[in-house]
Amino acid sequence: MNVRTQNLPLTDVSADVLVVASFEGASIDAAVSALAVPAVEAGDFAGEFGQTTVVYTGGQIKARKLLLLGLGKESKVDIRKLRRAAGMAARAARQSGAQSLAFAVPAVSGMVPASVAQFMVEGALHGLFRFETLKSEQKAKPQVESIVMVGGPEIESGVTYGQVVGEAVNYTRALNWLPGNHLTASKLAEKAVEVCREGCIEVEVYDKKGCQELGLGLLLAVNQGSVEEPRFVVMRYKGNGGSGPWLGFVGKGLTFDSGGISIKPTDGMWDMKYDMSGGGAVLGAMQAIAKLQPKCDILAVICATDNMPDGGAYKPGDVIVGLSGKTVEVRSTDAEGRLILADGLAYAAKQGATRLITSSTLTGAVQIALGPARMGIVANDDLWENEVYAAVEEAGERGWKLPHDEEYYELFKSPIADMSNTGTARAAGTVVGGLFLMSHVNGTPCVHLDIASQAWKGTEDKYEDAGATGAATRSFVRAALKFAEGTR
Ligand code: BES
Ligand code: MN
Ligand code: ZN
Repeated sequence: MNVRTQNLPLTDVSADVLVVASFEGASIDAAVSALAVPAVEAGDFAGEFGQTTVVYTGGQIKARKLLLLGLGKESKVDIRKLRRAAGMAARAARQSGAQSLAFAVPAVSGMVPASVAQFMVEGALHGLFRFETLKSEQKAKPQVESIVMVGGPEIESGVTYGQVVGEAVNYTRALNWLPGNHLTASKLAEKAVEVCREGCIEVEVYDKKGCQELGLGLLLAVNQGSVEEPRFVVMRYKGNGGSGPWLGFVGKGLTFDSGGISIKPTDGMWDMKYDMSGGGAVLGAMQAIAKLQPKCDILAVICATDNMPDGGAYKPGDVIVGLSGKTVEVRSTDAEGRLILADGLAYAAKQGATRLITSSTLTGAVQIALGPARMGIVANDDLWENEVYAAVEEAGERGWKLPHDEEYYELFKSPIADMSNTGTARAAGTVVGGLFLMSHVNGTPCVHLDIASQAWKGTEDKYEDAGATGAATRSFVRAALKFAEGTR
């Protein structure tokens, strides 16, 4: 996608569709308001959030069509709404056959123009994403090829950031869409190597033997029932010269979760291909970070395997030990994400990461607690949690801080080992999953993002296709930029 900024009067912008946004109850940009009169007078456009009305311009301005986009009441507009609205407009424009799009960047009170432009670019790229590389026949569907953001030099940095992040999120989505037979652990590692080569990031990939040498006993236990080897991917982005401090990212790269011996029910099992979405977010974020070049050092880890049942598989009741040295009683082989992440987090902490962020589709319980609107956040340190929370918000994502009182650690005690990998009954499932992770970082400040309710969407809407959403990618990027500010 070609994305650029143009500083022109709206009447002179040439594009198949020019998108002009306006607020409910406010006037439409004077440059095009005359064209909008019939639609407004007919009651077809009132600026309500998400309204999209196409108007033919009849040669009165350079653009072939004008798309009126409603943002709703100005007092209610935020960055997420801007992104959604831009995505809706881009999809509506594509539906009307547009190949070239232009957006007038509206003035929004309380927001800098660069930020308005950023979220609109993000939204347009997000809305236009489709995943159809696995169809044998590539039908010639209408395709948008260029996006122009109309505004002065003050929007340029936002346009660039929006494109980098928007493309990274779409990269994550494409990965998360891939089924378990296409994206095996070794394939996921190859993708990471590719991203790192393009972004000049150092990368090491450990195969099964390498994982054994490192002592990743928990990752290896989960992998035991699989014919696919695990992969442990370690990326080192040296934006501060490699002298540290190191920010650690750890992602769950579970390429397919059958549940293992504690096998999942048939219904919906197919979608457990997206159980690597946490790892996908880490990789997408690293792609963006390589382009944005924040001045900080980042150690990013992806723990990759599938979770399969077979004669050699790990079993309920097994006691296993990984890199942290803590022993774990396996109560359910379906609580595998926390096991592989515990090794990844222990590794990052031992390698000297001083702050950790981890993302995963960890618990079904987060869907019950929060639904898709917010990711679950569990941490072991209030200050670091607040910083990451701010990054999530600034990135235009949403999360909710769940408690981490000491009592919750009681819920996954084991009579035979240092801890169990599940809690008693189903109490506080998301908190237990998160605090299990915290038990392997040796006190390093750590924030866990549970994206199980956010990473996959069941139904298409005006903003985006159904399927992978790329959740947490933007938050990682934002957290890296904030960490860089703090490092200097
Ligand atoms: N990958 C799942 C969590 C999940 C569920 C992600 C639904 C996306 C949608 C995870 O590995 C899992 O199976 N968790 C168990 C934990 C339980 C056994 C303690 C769960 O949530 O049921
Ligand atoms: Mn599972
Ligand atoms: Zn899982």
